[in-house]
Amino acid sequence: MTNFADKHLPKLDQEINQFIKEHATEDSLSTSMEYSLAAGGKKLRPLLLLATIDFFNGEITRGAYQVAGALEMIHTYSLIHDDLPAMDDDELRRGKPTNHIVFGEGLAILAGDGLLTEAFHLVAEAELASDLKVALLQRLAKGAGTQGMIGGQVADIEGESQQLDLASLQSVHRRKTGALIKFAVEAGLILSGQEHQIVELMLIYADNFGIAFQIKDDLLDVIGDEAVIGKKTGMDQALNKSTYTSLLGVEGAEMALKEHCQLALSTLAKVKLEVGIDQKISLLEELIQTLMV
Ligand code: IPE
Ligand code: IPE
Ligand code: MG
Ligand code: MG
Ligand code: MG
Repeated sequence: MTNFADKHLPKLDQEINQFIKEHATEDSLSTSMEYSLAAGGKKLRPLLLLATIDFFNGEITRGAYQVAGALEMIHTYSLIHDDLPAMDDDELRRGKPTNHIVFGEGLAILAGDGLLTEAFHLVAEAELASDLKVALLQRLAKGAGTQGMIGGQVADIEGESQQLDLASLQSVHRRKTGALIKFAVEAGLILSGQEHQIVELMLIYADNFGIAFQIKDDLLDVIGDEAVIGKKTGMDQALNKSTYTSLLGVEGAEMALKEHCQLALSTLAKVKLEVGIDQKISLLEELIQTLMV
């Protein structure tokens, strides 16, 4: 995984930085956008997108880096807004003071707006065929939009005043976090030209990945180390959030995490059989395994 990241992340960063520079107006705005982008995120979503293409032996083209870059821009915007006082009111992100602490709320809101809007601009201008771009833009809008991440964030806030049951909590996780993770896989499938049957299976993988990822995030808020995760722990409880740990306890959440990871892995095993991939451990498996430790 490190080799894959070392090989591809510089090209991803280059696409994002170049696009932001070319379209910068006010220096303060681009500085604020670049601050959060460069703060040291794990870049899981772009890696997942590129790893999906690689899994199917597809070619990782400039267009792929541009779509992966747009996804990281949207994810970063979602974090800048998530940290605002009106939302989770966090002061630490990616090991650094949050965007609004450094630049003020007005600029943080606008940096988020800028990242969101320029992400769509970047895909629209990407080096890809027009029909692919329309398909990608439609899915990106769906994943980031009111049915996806934004709707999930609303349900998350509304979950502060009540304890959501498991079905409602899954719906929050599937949308606020799962939707962009699903887009990473979907985009990789579109860019490597997969057929319907494989797409259906891979979406089961993506769905379980998304839920597992947020369960892990809920767990890290309770048992994680601030120095490692780069954000303050105990914040969910302070805000009375409905989380997997508040509903099921640490052990229950760990069990649920394992179940979703195993479902993701068994689905991937089916895909491998179907397509005839004989690689022992692919990056798509490694990414799930990192959630299980
Ligand atoms: C944090 O996502 C927010 C969630 C959706 C759980 P990441 O854990 O991927 O954050 P970065 O990008 O590495 O900072
Ligand atoms: C965030 O979920 C999901 C987003 C869409 C940003 P959290 O609020 O749990 O993420 P962290 O813990 O602040 O990273
Ligand atoms: Mg939140
Ligand atoms: Mg938060
Ligand atoms: Mg969290």
